[in-house]
Amino acid sequence: MSEKDDTVVVRGLRDVAAGESKISYPDPNGALYYVGYNIDDIIGRTDYEEVAYLLIHKKLPNMQELDKFKTELVSEMKLPDPILKSIKTTPANCLPMDVLRTEVSHLGEYDPEGKVFSEPANKRRASRLIAQVPAIVATLYRSRREEYVPVPREDLDLVQNFLYMLKGTFPHGSAVKVMHRLMTLHIDHGFNASTFAARVTASTNSDMYSAVTSAIGTLKGPLHGGASEKVMEMLDEVYFEGKVEEYIQGLLDNKKKIMGFGHRVYKTQDPRTKHLRGIVEEFSNNFGTSHLYDKCKKIEEIVYDRKKIYPNVDFYAAVALDALEVGKEFFPLFFASSRIVGWVAHILEQYEDAVLLRPSQKYVGELGRLFVPIGQR
Ligand code: ACO
Repeated sequence: MSEKDDTVVVRGLRDVAAGESKISYPDPNGALYYVGYNIDDIIGRTDYEEVAYLLIHKKLPNMQELDKFKTELVSEMKLPDPILKSIKTTPANCLPMDVLRTEVSHLGEYDPEGKVFSEPANKRRASRLIAQVPAIVATLYRSRREEYVPVPREDLDLVQNFLYMLKGTFPHGSAVKVMHRLMTLHIDHGFNASTFAARVTASTNSDMYSAVTSAIGTLKGPLHGGASEKVMEMLDEVYFEGKVEEYIQGLLDNKKKIMGFGHRVYKTQDPRTKHLRGIVEEFSNNFGTSHLYDKCKKIEEIVYDRKKIYPNVDFYAAVALDALEVGKEFFPLFFASSRIVGWVAHILEQYEDAVLLRPSQKYVGELGRLFVPIGQR
């Protein structure tokens, strides 16, 4: 190494483009595109499965293709018996996100196509994972409550089955519609941390289960998908709206981060927020929970006034999931249940790109130290 090392370190890889992608584009000016379609044009007008097809196949399906894809997904929702057994016997004190990570890894042992690594086999694997991740989440959710786990029904689509398996009752039309919107809003988001982790693993030509396992471990952290759970903890703590100002200002005075705020890419409103805020507003009108909505709006105002930052996807998503009565420790799992589509789409794209993702570093430690054998130290 030369005396003076001019290597430039980009801390946190901020603004570094680590590869090319055709899947989604979070525009820093406040828009989000899925394979070229602005989310504002598709949210509420497409099914979640339709957008999942779009991300995997890079084109919108026609009616026949969508029906076939939906049928295929539902047929894959039934989990192998050893996985079901393993989920049901998981220790009660084990974090749900840890169980999801383990069971996705475990699924790799039961892949019907074993070690076949062709593009068609990987696409089929992608569909299986899109179906199996929500099935694992619902199975765990019900098992933790010591409730029976419904078997997925062929007359329901994936989203309906997800709700049916979570709740144990036939899903209500309005809940299904909300779920399609919520899941579509979480489906993909450029080279976010968990997707990047999946791509790094895939770039070594490792298998899809290993890459998704890396992604889940990365999503878990509170700076990423774990933030939604923390948002709800904050909202629970600041129970009375009258206390919001004091509480939030106190956190900011103490240089604490407000969970569910800030974003690496967006310098303006996160384009998903208005859709999520809309869902929460609908809930607050329907269920008379306006105190929660008002509290959120107030937090938004205070944080913007002090820090000029906006809520990210996790802020209102937490409130929407709470209204759907998904326990807060399951929020990141819900996130994973739809982000699985983005992960597998990116893994497929990375396999095609066929380049090892391996950055360099700037070494700042010592060199040329005198080695002393252990007996002489
Ligand atoms: N609360 C208070 N201040 C914040 C927050 C926040 N949530 N986020 C950023 N800031 C401030 C920082 O203190 C910093 O201020 P300064 O310049 O006065 O020091 C400035 O905004 C820039 O913040 P960075 O941490 O440098 O932004 P970065 O791009 O590295 O981090 C991140 C982005 C991790 C999302 C950050 O905003 C954060 O920690 N947010 C809270 C956790 C969260 O909600 N995560 C979910 C993100 S979305 C997702 O993954 C699904």
